[in-house]
Amino acid sequence: MAEEQVPAIDVSWVRQQFPALQRTYGGLPVIYLDGPGGSQVTQAAIDAMTQYMRAGGGNLHGVFPTSVETEVLLAQTRAAVAALFGAHPDEVAFGANMTTLTFALARALAPTWQPGDEVVVTEMDHRANVDPWLRAARDRGVVVRWLRVNPDRLTLELDDLETVIHQRTRLVAVGAASNAVGTVQDVARIARRAHAVGAVVAVDAVHAAPHLVLQRDTLDADILVCSAYKFFGPHVGIAVVRRSLWKQLHVYKLEPAPETPPDCLETGTQNHEGIAGVYGALSFIARLGRGVTLHERLQSAMRAIEAYEHPLAEKLRAGLRALPGVKVYAAPDEVPKTPTVAFTVAGVPPRQVCEQLLELAGVFVADGDFYASTLAQRVGVAGRGGWVRAGLAPYNTEEDIDTLLSALVRILPA
Ligand SMILES: Cc1ncc(COP(=O)(O)O)c(C=O)c1O
Repeated sequence: MAEEQVPAIDVSWVRQQFPALQRTYGGLPVIYLDGPGGSQVTQAAIDAMTQYMRAGGGNLHGVFPTSVETEVLLAQTRAAVAALFGAHPDEVAFGANMTTLTFALARALAPTWQPGDEVVVTEMDHRANVDPWLRAARDRGVVVRWLRVNPDRLTLELDDLETVIHQRTRLVAVGAASNAVGTVQDVARIARRAHAVGAVVAVDAVHAAPHLVLQRDTLDADILVCSAYKFFGPHVGIAVVRRSLWKQLHVYKLEPAPETPPDCLETGTQNHEGIAGVYGALSFIARLGRGVTLHERLQSAMRAIEAYEHPLAEKLRAGLRALPGVKVYAAPDEVPKTPTVAFTVAGVPPRQVCEQLLELAGVFVADGDFYASTLAQRVGVAGRGGWVRAGLAPYNTEEDIDTLLSALVRILPA
């Protein structure tokens, strides 16, 4: 789609779709800047969840209407997720959250590994895309290799790809974007190398999914995992598992449960009302885009979100950099980034920055390492309370950034 066809985001309409934006703190309107920790929930998702529960729920495989409707709901939500990522509906599995699904997938793939095989994780990733693989590797006597981060550039050392990923590599786990510093990874390049040696590629799309057009096939991911609570929906995890991988999965499941994904991955009864909410969230996103098919509208919407958030993020980074004592942790300009900005304030611990932003301006921002703990160690913030992280969503405005920056000025040490 040409640049000029990207629809504009009508931020006042968007804001009306989020009831939580009415909240106040100490008489101030709340400014939500912790989207990377969890976005606010759109009315469409709330309505879909309450509607499902009001209409009467049911478990699957029954003849009665609420059971049949629940099956229809699951099918339509699978199709909507598939439309978002350019996958097939039967490749989409739901679960409690990304972490739980990744542990299950790691456990399911590990039996195909032999001692002496290798798995590759990165120093940039959230530990949810590291530790499940580490644990499975330990169980199988498999070697773990790390793709290093360059702590100055905040990018992965892709020049090492050929040496880190080689003939013994069975799996490469990489995040599409860093939930701490926003760096977007060149997943397609990493996947090309991984596939050249026959390794499986597991992509953590939790942080990227709310901000970027992500196509499973463009990334060349065999596994792509995300979480709807990061994109305006409820707490439901999603795994997209490529059909060609199914034969390799030795899923821990109940004997009578179906043998193949997605069903075999969906252990127990799913969060049906949550899955209704996922559909509601995707319907909201689709309304931001144009096109005939749901796939086209979702793609167009994600371009619109990206086009809206990008200049706001630039403003935020520039504003922060202009403040004395504020250090922004961001990759160089030419590296694509999500609108997630990590920073520190000299002389003020991150937690205290967050407390003061809250009290002075009703700004909700988070501090810590955000489970990107290896990255935090590599850049030297691990023992110092981590970073403050401000992350934008399409309901944030320039005024939100101005408020954050002017409150920060007031807490800088003299
Ligand atoms: C990049 C990234 N990966 C994984 C996770 C874990 O997701 P979940 O809470 O769905 O397990 C998070 C949560 O913040 C995240 O930001």
